[in-house]
Amino acid sequence: MTATAPPRTTLDPSALRARFPILQRQVHGHPLVYLDNAATTQKPETVLAAIQRYYSTSNANVHRGVHTLAEEATAAYEACRSRVARFVNAPDERGVIIVRNATEALNLVARAWGATLTAGDEVLLSEMEHHSNLVPWILLARERGVVLRHLPITDSGELDMAALPGMLSRRTQVVALTAMSNVLGTINPIAELTEAAHRVGAVMVVDAAQSVPHMPVDFQALGIDFLAFSAHKAYGPTGVGFLVAKPELLERMEPISGGGEMIRAVHLDSATWNDIPHRFEAGTPNIADAAAFPAALDLLEELGMDAVRAHEHDLVRYALERLRSLGWLELHGPLDPARRGGLVSFVDPEIHPHDLAQVLDTRGIAIRAGHHCAQPLMRRLDVAATARASFAVYNDRDEVDALVDGLMAARKYFGVA
Ligand code: ALA
Repeated sequence: MTATAPPRTTLDPSALRARFPILQRQVHGHPLVYLDNAATTQKPETVLAAIQRYYSTSNANVHRGVHTLAEEATAAYEACRSRVARFVNAPDERGVIIVRNATEALNLVARAWGATLTAGDEVLLSEMEHHSNLVPWILLARERGVVLRHLPITDSGELDMAALPGMLSRRTQVVALTAMSNVLGTINPIAELTEAAHRVGAVMVVDAAQSVPHMPVDFQALGIDFLAFSAHKAYGPTGVGFLVAKPELLERMEPISGGGEMIRAVHLDSATWNDIPHRFEAGTPNIADAAAFPAALDLLEELGMDAVRAHEHDLVRYALERLRSLGWLELHGPLDPARRGGLVSFVDPEIHPHDLAQVLDTRGIAIRAGHHCAQPLMRRLDVAATARASFAVYNDRDEVDALVDGLMAARKYFGVA
């Protein structure tokens, strides 16, 4: 997670589009141009087939049975854990907890690691965080009297690194930051931030929901302690996400959810806990979707994460050029494409983002408009909402052109000169 300019793209988006059934459909009589990938990506045929195959051949509960189906289901579920460990270079697959999404992963850290904090301890967040990396810590602050601090952002939409030393002290127990902003696209210097966090004895929590699907992420090279991401933003199914952690930290955490699977022994009035990671996976998990996620990782590994990053870097550079050339849009986030991921947030001062999104939809173009679950950032940017186009491996420059044509058409439609 560093902001360096990648080499030129080698992906073939139109060949890739053919592998995603939903991208063959039309919307309002136009070919679908799907530019809402930061919200969720589309799923390749191989992922859809893996879900179908799991339910058609191996469906059973995991970790409980000795029959063939139960063994196959357990193997498929555990294969997801090992693949994720390998994909992000986790130190140990016992450090991969399978949850529902990045939000649940961040809540798990805030509650279970947060239980080791006491009143007056500090948690450092930033102004560019998604609600999922703000609200769990707000809940913790209310419960335990922990103090929340927020690293400001600069006017160019980057973390204000000059302010960092003044915000860290021996009181800082946790630094929790996004690796890539879902609004600004900013890629944060996670390795440098981690070193700073560790110097004061804090653990480093990374919201990697937007980075894992779009660039190489190496847990051990970054030196981080916790990393959260969702399968559905990485071409996998909804309902599966991951908390990747150093096992020795998980060993120090108490479970936050009780029930089947997470126990070793239960008495009427006491219980002991299972080993990690199962200690944090109470109840029947989302087996089918976990079993299907490796098919999405197959796709990303086939393409290579350097090539994925290069492709999206190329697209965002082109999009920034074309959107700036219109001359009327306010663009948010760093203007240097090497410092940002494959998304662009913008505002047409004459047209509300929701109206823009609606006009684009009539042309088959899907973007997101709103506060993007980052209300404090909207206040910092002094906007109520933005429009956002976010890219994936199957998008190409023609689709950026379609977006730009749509933005011009919206001005005509609303009679803006
Ligand atoms: N966090 C997702 C987004 O930015 C939902 O759209």
